[in-house]
Amino acid sequence: ARRIVVLLSGSGSNLQALIEAQSHDRLGGEIVAVISNEADAYGLKRARDAGIDAVALPHREYDSREAYDGALIKVIERHEPDLIVLAGFMRILTPRFVQRFLGRMLNIHPSLLPAYRGLNTHAQALADGVSEHGCSVHFVTEELDGGPVVIQAALKVSADDTIETLKEKVHAREHLIYPIAVGWFLNGRLQYSGTGATLDGTALPPQGLR
Ligand code: GAR
Repeated sequence: ARRIVVLLSGSGSNLQALIEAQSHDRLGGEIVAVISNEADAYGLKRARDAGIDAVALPHREYDSREAYDGALIKVIERHEPDLIVLAGFMRILTPRFVQRFLGRMLNIHPSLLPAYRGLNTHAQALADGVSEHGCSVHFVTEELDGGPVVIQAALKVSADDTIETLKEKVHAREHLIYPIAVGWFLNGRLQYSGTGATLDGTALPPQGLR
């Protein structure tokens, strides 16, 4: 089976969606390890409960970003993954780390990229009064939240939405699109081309499928 390593920092609801897809044979592979930079991340408990190897690798125990990412590379490679899945992994990655896994690392981001890279996406979308918001799955490149987008889910922002309601709506969409993108990759349908992403050999538009 194709092997997946998931990196996270928090709750791990996206991990849970991937675990559920796997249990229904809809993922095209097996999550072999979950690694967190936060030892008390709830996502590690979700992994353990599902019988998945759960590894805490606290970044505070390392002197530099380079040292931490070097240690992380070692732990990841021990599991010989075909795909690295970032699921709420709240750290900026070094160029060395990104290069090591280029073309086989996906991230999910809570905005319709290229809008709102970085943090506090829901608050920014609300402050701007946009009518649409959502989430994106993309290949990870050295540009923060700037790699080729694979798939997006959009939703209408309503007048009474708050940061909390938006966050909840976006999460529900994330749980739908992440297993789809991971499945495409593991089934050999999705590739990183160096400049963009291709699905079944055809270049995806800059904002992926929606
Ligand atoms: C998700 O909304 C994901 O898009 C976001 O963190 C949340 C993790 O939720 N990721 C980022 O902001 C990456 N910069 P989860 O732990 O419940 O899956």
